[in-house]
Order: sequence, then C-alpha cells, then structure tokens
Amino acid sequence: SQYQKGVKHLCESGISRVPAKYILPILDRPFTTRHDEVNVSNQHNLNLPIIDFADLQGSNRARVLKTLSNACEQYGFFQVVNHGIPSDVISSMIEVSTRFFELPFEERAKYMSSDMYSPVRYGTSFNQNKDKVFCWRDFLKLMCHPISDVLPHWPSSPVDFRKLAATYAKETKFLYLMLMEAVLESLEVVGTTEKKTEEEDDDDDDQLLLKKFEDGSQLMVVNFYPPCPEPDLTLGMPPHSDYGFLTLLLQDEVEGLQIKHHEKWVTVQPIPNSFVVNVGDHLEIFSNGKYKSVLHRVLVNSMKARISVASLHSLPFDCTVAPSPKLIDESNPRRYKDTDFASFLEFISSREPKRKNFLETRK
Ligand code: SIN
Ligand code: FE2
Repeated sequence: SQYQKGVKHLCESGISRVPAKYILPILDRPFTTRHDEVNVSNQHNLNLPIIDFADLQGSNRARVLKTLSNACEQYGFFQVVNHGIPSDVISSMIEVSTRFFELPFEERAKYMSSDMYSPVRYGTSFNQNKDKVFCWRDFLKLMCHPISDVLPHWPSSPVDFRKLAATYAKETKFLYLMLMEAVLESLEVVGTTEKKTEEEDDDDDDQLLLKKFEDGSQLMVVNFYPPCPEPDLTLGMPPHSDYGFLTLLLQDEVEGLQIKHHEKWVTVQPIPNSFVVNVGDHLEIFSNGKYKSVLHRVLVNSMKARISVASLHSLPFDCTVAPSPKLIDESNPRRYKDTDFASFLEFISSREPKRKNFLETRK
C-alpha cells in the first residue's frame, strides 16, 4: 500500500490530517490516561541517573559503579556524559543522517528490504509487515559487524555516509565495551581490577566473556520522525523493550523519548553531547532479573522533525544468552530460559494480535 513508502514520503505528498492508518485506538494514544498508568505532560521531565564516564575510569570507579547498578535496577536507563567520543563524530553522524533522509524517495527506497538479516534495511513504522496501525517513523537499519563485510552494502549516497557512519559505529562499539565491562563488574560477574591478579583462573573466564562481547553483534538504527499534524493520535514508536545487552542512543535536541518509570510515562530530557543508555532484554536475562529492560516509546510533535541513532549491542547472533551461573544460587534461582537472536526474530515477526514484551514470553 501507499503507507509502505513511509511517513517522510507521506508528508511530502502534502497532508493536514493524520491518515486513519496511523490513528491509535483511544487507550493506546499518548495522552490517554489508562487505569494502570498516569500520563504526565511534557513539563514533567525525568532526570535520569548520570554516569560520568571520565569519573568511571578514575579513582571514583567504585562509587560510579554503585550509581550504575542503581540506575540499571531502578530505571533500566542512564545518561552518559564525558564519554570521550569527539563531538564532531557525533554531529557528523546526525548531520549525514539528516542528509540521507533528505535524498529523493527513490534513492532511499533502494535500501528497502524485508530480510531481517540484510546488512542494510530502509523501512517505516515499527514492523511494517505486521503493524495494524502504523507509527510515525521511517528508519535506516545498518548491521555493523563485521564491518568489512557489511560496509559495501551501506548507502553509497550521501558520498560521505559510509565513512562517517563507520567511524561513529566504531566509537560507539568501544564505548559499549567499556560500559559493558563496568556493568559486569557492578554485577560482580567479573573481578575488579585489583582482584584479577589474585584469582588467575577466574581471570581467564573473565577474558573469555569479554572476548564474546568484543565479537558481538551491533545494529545501528537511524530513526527519522517528521513533524506530525496531529501528534496526540499517534506515536513515533510504540512501547517496546530492546533485545540486546545495552542500547546507546543519540538523540538530537528535540525531545520525544519516554520511558515507563513507576507506572508513568516520563520524558527523557535531551542533554547535548550525551548518550542515553538502556538495559536490553539480554542483559535482564544475563543478570537473572537484577537489571531491568524497561519499556519505552517515542512521541512525535507538530513543530520539528526529530532524528535519533540507536546502537544495539549483543553477543554474536548465533550465541545463546542465559542467566550468569555466578548470579544463580539456592536463594536466587534461575528466572529465565535460554534465548538467542533467532527466537527474538521469530517473536517480532509472529502475527500475534496483541503486542507483548519479548521478555514476557521468555520467563
Ligand atoms: C528507540 O527506542 O530505539 C528509539 C528511541 C528514540 O528515537 O528516542
Ligand atoms: Fe528502543
């Protein structure tokens, strides 16, 4: 249908109302109050816990690890500042993404694919093959690993796209690995730097685990949300959780991301030059439920287009994710079945009428 061409295309064709295809049932609309949740207006922004990455690398590491574990338990989200990624790498990524979405539709359409394993996939809505109601979002998904295999498939236009996006992917992967090391340390799944020399066998196990993360999958999702004439009837992205270990999200200065916190939808205030990081389903499983993969969604607005770049990281696609044996004992029994990427794909492409959280099917 015409809607498969996406919201950018739809807006360019000139509309003043939201077509029926995008209108959510009343109870799913962003400003409807349901019995189980209280909606708050945009004045009620949430200040997420802040992780100062530079501080994490220094003598305050133990204190920052405590903040990190509290954030992962109570919010499933935190913001990272002083992350060390040069600001021109970040601004170039936003800028070249903006130029990609400004290309003529025919140019963007070259990358449309329904193959979930395709190294590049341009599309619209959340799952355009399954969604009854479409959401107000177009996307470009890029597999990033192994980079030399995928790069030739990435968009060749704008001419500098591959170079800038590959640099950005490499920088976010490095930051992810450093954050993941801190996460494992905060869970006491790997030894702290001082303990490492005392327990040599454990040290080998730790290195094996970290190696798995290094070889892990990385999927970059560039999201484009055009201005919407009737933003209270639709969503940029429906409530969902992310599948992997950690997602590193870059948003421009336009707010829109909301997370579910204490049964309320609250807006995450963008901080320039920072990353919003969230716990994914695989980390919730690995931590045996200690860290929470939290529902989030995206609001649209009538004034400004919004761009975000999400970088989703997990183990290699063929690896099984299971609760860490170090977090299971008699008083804390295993709470999740093993899972893998294939079962996640099966879940999202199944035609269940009611959208459930992936994790709910895994417990
Ligand atoms: C996402 O949930 O992956 C995207 C969120 C956003 O656009 O802020
Ligand atoms: Fe997400």
